[in-house]
Amino acid sequence: MTQINKNTGSEVEQVGKKERERGPGAMRVIVPLQGVVQGRGGVVLGSIIPCVLFYFLQLYLRRNRSSPPEPPPAESESQARSSQRIQRTLSRSPSRPVFVSSRAAHMSDREDSRYYLGWKAYNDDPYDAEINPHGVIQMGLAENQLSLDLIEDWLESHPDALSWGGAHNMPLSIRGIAGYQDSYGMPALRTAMAGFMGDVMKASFDPSQLILTAGATSAIEILGFCLAEPGNAFLVPTPYYPGFDRDIKWRTGVDLVPVPCRSTDNFNVTITALERAFNQTKKRGTAVRALLISNPSNPAGNTLDSNMLTMLLEFAREKNIHLICDEIYAGSVYDSPEFTSIAKVLESGEFDKSRVHIIYGTSKDLGLAGFRVGALYSYNDKVLKAAKKFARFCSVSSLTQRLLIAIISDTQFIQNYMSEHQRRLGERFSVIREGLKKAGIKCAKSNGGLYCWVEMANLMPSFNQKGEHKLWERLLSEAKINVTPGSACHCIEPGWFRVCFATLTDHDTIVALQRILEFSKRCKPYPQ
Ligand SMILES: Cc1ncc(COP(=O)(O)O)c(C=O)c1O
Ligand SMILES: *[C@@H]1O[C@H](CO)[C@@H](O)[C@H](O)[C@H]1NC(C)=O
Ligand SMILES: *[C@@H]1O[C@H](CO)[C@@H](O)[C@H](O)[C@H]1NC(C)=O
Repeated sequence: MTQINKNTGSEVEQVGKKERERGPGAMRVIVPLQGVVQGRGGVVLGSIIPCVLFYFLQLYLRRNRSSPPEPPPAESESQARSSQRIQRTLSRSPSRPVFVSSRAAHMSDREDSRYYLGWKAYNDDPYDAEINPHGVIQMGLAENQLSLDLIEDWLESHPDALSWGGAHNMPLSIRGIAGYQDSYGMPALRTAMAGFMGDVMKASFDPSQLILTAGATSAIEILGFCLAEPGNAFLVPTPYYPGFDRDIKWRTGVDLVPVPCRSTDNFNVTITALERAFNQTKKRGTAVRALLISNPSNPAGNTLDSNMLTMLLEFAREKNIHLICDEIYAGSVYDSPEFTSIAKVLESGEFDKSRVHIIYGTSKDLGLAGFRVGALYSYNDKVLKAAKKFARFCSVSSLTQRLLIAIISDTQFIQNYMSEHQRRLGERFSVIREGLKKAGIKCAKSNGGLYCWVEMANLMPSFNQKGEHKLWERLLSEAKINVTPGSACHCIEPGWFRVCFATLTDHDTIVALQRILEFSKRCKPYPQ
């Protein structure tokens, strides 16, 4: 970036220099002319001489204008042959690597974190109960397949939702979906989505403040573009969702400052830690523009209550920064305390709403990550106006929008789906918690999300990040289990891992727990 700026700078300087050089040259012509005119004292001559000069200049220029280039003569056969020969010779000469931008070079060379390396290991050797029973079991991806059967059933009983028909009133009629739509979402989907969010989050949402994007990822990035200058920073309590580094940092140039939370506080964020991070960042000369939290937390799986949310609003007001609440797991809270949306807190008091922004989407609660539907809900008019324009780069296809309108407009179905999804999540969580307990592994207290946050420090060869990485590698290569190491989530305490449990069938869950149990028996416990 600095290089680009430097180049543009010097280009501007050069243009300026040329302008200055031209100046005195022109003066040398005009000054003697003035002498002639003033000497004779004639206003008439003063007008005539320049006119005559101008006329001759025009005449001269017209005569000397170069004639249009002649069309190139048709290539003779021998010429064609020799040029072919030249081309062949050229193709044999060593080829030098063609230019790619420093951005592309940096991106292609950067080392992937273990979060992404684990996915690769899974993709290379994916477990399948029948086809590949010794493959890698994926517990490192927050995907939700627990209740997809409910959506399958709904689709089966609503064939119209997928019908092309040909008739204009069919949801997927080509005339209704072929053209351009509002880049930030069809009005009908924004209305349906606002209603859906209202049901899930127990608060009210106005469709005019809602922007739909291709996944929550894009909505988060848009906030990076809208709330900060490159080089500014957002505070993020740790452990945090590894994707935030990509979503915020990669293209906007905004930095993330981790705010450490501790196991002794059950990884709750504290105002003191926020203050300290804010002060230190400011002292470094970096402006903090926002606090970014996920509620329920990914990866810790706990929720923030209205007290804590109010304190965060107060902190944001005091520091004059934005508050971004990523509530993408709002409908995946399976135990008490129940979920409280920041939108609900805002309804209950006098707050400056213009600094609050909510992220949501259908990737987690509905398990429709492949649909790529995310939502940005903002109380700030400027941000909304800008975000509508940015959304052109990340619109949702109209085919997807129409299908989603049909699904989420069936409020009775959504209500049933949500309560069943939460019931199944809770059930799966207790199976996982009990299974891990048998292997001597503790889960942090959690009530939401598609994962649990577990401590395996006693299985590490050493109590540091190296030991954590070693254990992660052994889990992957020996137990054939992919989980996310805490270090990928910027956790400051070594030994914590995120274990996703909503992608597996009941049977595969038992297999995974069995593998972990056997592995823990083989692993010599590390003395704490
Ligand atoms: C907290 C959080 N925000 C955003 C996302 C990204 O969602 P999407 O797939 O809709 O882009 C995820 C996905 O893991 C997430 O965990
Ligand atoms: C963490 O915060 C939640 C609500 O914000 C609270 O109920 C819980 O007691 C806190 N846990 C600890 C260990 O501080
Ligand atoms: C942060 O700075 C403020 C103002 O300088 C000061 O009052 C406060 O004590 C500091 N807080 C921490 C935790 O460092």
